[in-house]
Amino acid sequence: DAGKSGYDHYMLKEIHEQPTAVRQCLHERVTELERRIDVEALEMLSVPTQVQFVACGTSYHAALYGVRLLRDRGVPATAFLASEYDAGSTPVGDETLVVGVTQSGETADTMGALRGANSAGATTIAVTNVVGSSAARECDHVMYVRAGPEIGVAATKTFVSQQIALVLLASELTGEYDDDLAAALRDLPGQLQTVLDDSSAREIATEYRGADAYFFIGRGYNAPVSLEGALKMKEITYKHAEGFAAGELKHGPLALVTDRTPVFALVTGGSNPTKTIGNVKEVETRGAPIVAVTDGSADAGRHADHVLEIPATHPAIAPVLGNVQLQLVSYWVANELGRSIDKPRNLAKSVTVE
Ligand code: G6P
Repeated sequence: DAGKSGYDHYMLKEIHEQPTAVRQCLHERVTELERRIDVEALEMLSVPTQVQFVACGTSYHAALYGVRLLRDRGVPATAFLASEYDAGSTPVGDETLVVGVTQSGETADTMGALRGANSAGATTIAVTNVVGSSAARECDHVMYVRAGPEIGVAATKTFVSQQIALVLLASELTGEYDDDLAAALRDLPGQLQTVLDDSSAREIATEYRGADAYFFIGRGYNAPVSLEGALKMKEITYKHAEGFAAGELKHGPLALVTDRTPVFALVTGGSNPTKTIGNVKEVETRGAPIVAVTDGSADAGRHADHVLEIPATHPAIAPVLGNVQLQLVSYWVANELGRSIDKPRNLAKSVTVE
């Protein structure tokens, strides 16, 4: 218990360590004066023809976020669930960069995919938290996310650190790094602290702890975080939860929406907030309680029963802040339900079988 520093669970402690995790990830990698990003591990890499991410679970959601960062910079990128990656039938060659996103560096499915990519001639890089892990040793390059040890089975601070590592990777690979992004990264630890200090997630969790199911929607940069919000909720509360790209709601999931299914909508600048509000209205007319996770874009609060505020930032960084609000909601619902938060049933921190 001493390791929990006064928190009831490692998960809550690790959620609160996220400002520090981000500072560590950025340390000496962003040269403010020269406005450039310098990641030693990436110095040898040229801009690849294509990038393929391989990852599982929460790390796969970070990979989906990485895809968007690269595509926004003109690099063709795809994310694969590592268990579905087959270098034999996937176009991969010596101009392909395969990025294994794995906090432990030991996940069997991810290691299998990386080994396959290696034998097919691709250049591989591990984005991992664990120094000397299998992924770190076997890949051609390694970039450490520097989150510090994570004990809770549900990944929290390692996910945020992966997101930031992928911002650095995408920027360094393409040389595209603007003043706004630099400022957003500089402000991020302080803004994360503001979210942690001011969040009303606990009250919202108390109100909705008896819900039948929880839905999470978001577009663009927010879409991977809606998936992650749902995964976290499932993992630690054992409740039904699903995340969607907001536009997909009307193509099926809307049939599940009732007045007993709260919908968490990520509505932030630069990620099509007006269209997401259109989707929010679809669930509003079905009587679903709506929680907007928002920087105030598109007047989201007007359509919501509750607001989880995030400070204004760069469009690519907004989901990093939004995700923390969702982590807190899941944590407090699980806490209300008396779940085994740090060691959820049936789950392991690192899965070393395929
Ligand atoms: C397990 C954990 C998840 C994690 C996944 C991938 O399923 O419970 O939290 O996201 O493995 O782990 P990795 O170490 O490869 O990121």
